[in-house]
Amino acid sequence: PSIPAGPASKCLWMVLLLGIIRTIESVNCPKECTCQYLVVNCTGKQLSEFPSELPLDTRQLILAHNKLSYLPAVELNFLSDLIYLDCSGNTLGEDLDFTFVSIIKLVYLDLSFNNLTQVTFDTFSQLGSLVVLKLSDNPSLMEIEKDSFANNTWLRHLDVSRCSLLFIDTSTVRDLPNLRSLGLSGNPWFCNCSFMELCDWIKESGVTIPDPDNVTCYSPAFVHGFRMLEEAQEQLQLKCYIHFDDHDYLFLGLVGFCIFSAGTVLAWILGVCAHVYLEMSSTKETGLRLFNTS
Ligand SMILES: *[C@@H]1O[C@H](CO)[C@@H](O)[C@H](O)[C@H]1NC(C)=O
Ligand SMILES: *[C@@H]1O[C@H](CO)[C@@H](O)[C@H](O)[C@H]1NC(C)=O
Ligand SMILES: *[C@@H]1O[C@H](CO)[C@@H](O)[C@H](O)[C@H]1NC(C)=O
Ligand SMILES: *[C@@H]1O[C@H](CO)[C@@H](O)[C@H](O)[C@H]1NC(C)=O
Ligand SMILES: *[C@@H]1O[C@H](CO)[C@@H](O)[C@H](O)[C@H]1NC(C)=O
Repeated sequence: PSIPAGPASKCLWMVLLLGIIRTIESVNCPKECTCQYLVVNCTGKQLSEFPSELPLDTRQLILAHNKLSYLPAVELNFLSDLIYLDCSGNTLGEDLDFTFVSIIKLVYLDLSFNNLTQVTFDTFSQLGSLVVLKLSDNPSLMEIEKDSFANNTWLRHLDVSRCSLLFIDTSTVRDLPNLRSLGLSGNPWFCNCSFMELCDWIKESGVTIPDPDNVTCYSPAFVHGFRMLEEAQEQLQLKCYIHFDDHDYLFLGLVGFCIFSAGTVLAWILGVCAHVYLEMSSTKETGLRLFNTS
């Protein structure tokens, strides 16, 4: 009896094909990482260098919890189909400007728990599809330049919590039409009147602020430790909207003096008038009396 040849040979072909795919995959997968369906996962492998030989069609690259201190722009930008990049928990600190130049399909970028120091327009300007950007827990991050996200108009979730930021210009976030959530907690905010503007915008726009109780002012002293969206806003409202500076005090002093002087002069004039009137009427009375008696 003959074994049916069709299904058996099909099986054989399948096995061969799978074998070939596996071989290609293993050739193209960095040995420290696991590669599966366009996802390369290198989590927690003590990598101090960006992995080489990444499959060029990688969509999702996870480099979390390693020891990367820089990202090589050339190698990274070969991955032109990359949509998701997680570099959290490394020591990326060097200037990241012009690092993300041709991975323009990137939607998700996690740079939290690193050592970033500043963000400028050139850091993310080419990432026009970015929806999620996590910059939280970068204790050395002290500055986000005005309009750093001007070209990231799809941005929906932005997190800069637990950095060392003193200030963020309102226009930097106000001009993001799709922003829904903005992490600001755990920064030493400098709450001057420009900051007040940010508070007002947050309330108007309805953007969600996660962990709002930890969004506090560090300076100036009169609002130190105040929660930004409640107590600090009240204090600032008093200072910024009904505020008197030295010129105002001088002006008020002058106005006060004028009112006082005018009052005094008026009182004097009234006094004189009253006196004159009384004199006149008494003269009249005396005259009448004289007239009557005569
Ligand atoms: C990546 O690998 C780590 C551990 O090796 C695992 O915990 C994590 O779930 C993986 N992530 C994905 C998206 O596969
Ligand atoms: C983080 O950056 C600061 C200043 O650039 C540097 O002094 C520090 O050593 C860095 N820390 C790590 C863990 O790389
Ligand atoms: C803004 O992003 C677009 C792609 O979304 C890019 O072509 C353009 O060069 C960017 N602008 C600047 C000034 O980088
Ligand atoms: C608030 O402080 C920031 C940063 O120091 C500064 O750029 C801004 O002009 C200040 N705003 C006002 C109204 O003083
Ligand atoms: C606020 O921050 C402190 C420490 O910085 C943390 O323990 C606490 O859980 C935070 N509050 C919320 C509501 O997350």
